[in-house]
Amino acid sequence: MIYNPMRILVTGADGQLGRCICDASESSDNEYIFTDVDDIDITDREAVNLCLKVNNFDVVINCAAFTDVERAEEQEEIAYDINCKAVKYLAEAAKKYSVTLIHISTDYVFDGKGNQPIGEGSAVAPCGAYGRTKLAGEKAIAESQCQAIIIRTAWLYSEYGRNFVKTMERLTREKDSINVVVDQVGSPTYARDLADAIVSIVDRGDFVGHYGTYHFSNLGVCSWYDLAKMTAEYTGYNGCEIRPCRSSEYPSKVCRPSYSVLDKAKIIETFGLEIPYWIDSLRKCAERIKQGRNE
Ligand SMILES: NC(=O)c1ccc[n+]([C@@H]2O[C@H](COP(=O)([O-])OP(=O)(O)OC[C@H]3O[C@@H](n4cnc5c(N)ncnc54)[C@H](OP(=O)(O)O)[C@@H]3O)[C@@H](O)[C@H]2O)c1
Repeated sequence: MIYNPMRILVTGADGQLGRCICDASESSDNEYIFTDVDDIDITDREAVNLCLKVNNFDVVINCAAFTDVERAEEQEEIAYDINCKAVKYLAEAAKKYSVTLIHISTDYVFDGKGNQPIGEGSAVAPCGAYGRTKLAGEKAIAESQCQAIIIRTAWLYSEYGRNFVKTMERLTREKDSINVVVDQVGSPTYARDLADAIVSIVDRGDFVGHYGTYHFSNLGVCSWYDLAKMTAEYTGYNGCEIRPCRSSEYPSKVCRPSYSVLDKAKIIETFGLEIPYWIDSLRKCAERIKQGRNE
């Protein structure tokens, strides 16, 4: 039998998830095409339409987003353009040219006031600008009626780009002591684990007939304080004192969910995934960060 490889467009591919998908798809038999804003600006409706019209893609994985939660409070319109309008353009084109859209969303669509793992059907109630724009993006996909998988994730980190784990690695190297919030809990997500899951769903063709919204993060629960402590442990900087503090000690214009544990049962059952425990994944990422330091 002749195998017809799928063509998969990845947008926002220079970001941390996009780069992890590039690594995860290295040995794939399918053709992944990686683009960022200089190749295709997803806020350009005509460009998005033309790109999907002429390229014969089977799947688009949208990793492009406005992810700076603090800046989103000041620049909600710009965040809305990327997190909602551009997603609408992708979804409309996906519908028109029968392309499956895999889109990434966030725990910030919830208010995080509960104390039980958050299921896909839980009531959405974003408490800040970033969450509002991401939720609007989800709604735009639903309205387009394209074939889509939306994966909400949380506390994303990797050896690439800027993220909490890399910030803690740097701070514990540079400082004698730091304070880290202990009263916000969630499940971290190693972007490489999410990338592996997405590549496996795409490469096995498992997305067909399983369109809808899913939650993905690593297994287990921790606070930002725990994540900082374990990062220091695994990256080798134990000389810095890490002190727990309350979020009220750090007034911020950003409203952050205090409970962000996503319930992963649906994605595990639907796609037969084995999701690693957060500490095991953090250890792997720390090794890669250390390798990068030594290169
Ligand atoms: N980071 C987290 O903690 C977190 C948590 C939950 C969910 N998520 C979601 O997970 C997904 C991936 O996040 P990430 O951390 O990998 O994001 P990231 O590192 O910020 O990468 C996003 C990429 O999209 C690019 N981009 C921005 N505007 C674009 C445009 N108009 N057209 C094409 N590309 C554009 C960015 O380029 P520039 O850098 O030049 O802007 C960047 O390369 C996003 O949907 C995000 O909302 C992230």
